[in-house]
Amino acid sequence: MVVILISIVGSGRVGASIAFLCVSNGLDDVLLVNTTKEKALGESLDVASAIPANSKFSIRGTDNYSELVGSDIVVIAASVGIYTKHRTENIPHQVAMIKDIAEKIKEYCPSAIVLLVSNPLDVLTYYFQKTSGFSRFKVIGIASSLDTSRFRYYISEMLSVPQSSISNAIVLGEHGDSMVPIFSGVSVGGNPLFSMIDSRDALTDNVRNYWRTLRNFKSRSQFGIAKNTYDVIDAISNKKEISIPASIVLDGEYGEHDVAMGIPVKINQNGVIEIQQVKLDDTEFSSLKKSSQKIRNDIESVR
Ligand SMILES: NC(=O)c1ccc[n+]([C@@H]2O[C@H](COP(=O)([O-])OP(=O)(O)OC[C@H]3O[C@@H](n4cnc5c(N)ncnc54)[C@H](OP(=O)(O)O)[C@@H]3O)[C@@H](O)[C@H]2O)c1
Repeated sequence: MVVILISIVGSGRVGASIAFLCVSNGLDDVLLVNTTKEKALGESLDVASAIPANSKFSIRGTDNYSELVGSDIVVIAASVGIYTKHRTENIPHQVAMIKDIAEKIKEYCPSAIVLLVSNPLDVLTYYFQKTSGFSRFKVIGIASSLDTSRFRYYISEMLSVPQSSISNAIVLGEHGDSMVPIFSGVSVGGNPLFSMIDSRDALTDNVRNYWRTLRNFKSRSQFGIAKNTYDVIDAISNKKEISIPASIVLDGEYGEHDVAMGIPVKINQNGVIEIQQVKLDDTEFSSLKKSSQKIRNDIESVR
């Protein structure tokens, strides 16, 4: 059996939650890397108590990037500040941070598949790929699958139906205020969603503002993104395929170049192996154009 090393850069709420899911499900060795060493050590000690008795794997923490050597998967959940109004608030600091992390990952584990989680997600996915020079199919921003979970949740709540009756709900574009829930393919119990709602507006607003609603009650989210990231790590580690919307640098797909945004992809142990085309109606197509332009403007703002 080949042992995989899953490294997680940033041991805050999100990084530690991802580590917990990996370790408690017996998924390979985990390394936590954090600027403040004590945080990496503390979280790894806490999560270590969740190692199942039959597991062959362990977890450790460090502030030393050279320990990334041999990593097969690197998750980036590092952050230097908290945004309150928009995910792009700390963009200069986050971009500087991601460029620095990209140089280190390039030095210590140039063959790793990189899963980005830090915000602003699409901008950081773009700058990581450009700085590292890694294949765009191995630099994957995880967020649109979380937005999709939130879309499904609100459809289920609004119509009082179980999520299991909802098919083809997906969110594309920016992980931000311009994200685009795709309504035209959604069915509920076999019937088109459009036949059950008056307009897209309420659901779209709810999905886009999910994080703001959550922050009325809790400082920041962690579990939803942790599960969505874990599912991708599990697929890569266990040589399975997973189809989700995720952010990658685009080269003509969906009519977009030189920008990263959430589109439907298939991922396996080699990274992204297929970019899938979903049918969009005119409203969705033009919203997606606006979303890509928003991301492009943010990218240019720190060029
Ligand atoms: N993609 C999504 O859908 C999604 C969902 C939720 C959250 N997020 C994003 O995920 C990121 C993490 O969120 P969080 O709540 O876990 O934040 P957090 O609790 O503040 O944790 C961030 C951690 O990153 C560490 N860090 C900062 N710079 C680093 C570097 N260069 N190398 C290693 N570690 C570094 C910090 O260490 P120190 O304590 O030493 O400063 C801190 O422990 C944020 O950008 C957040 O917006 C994304």
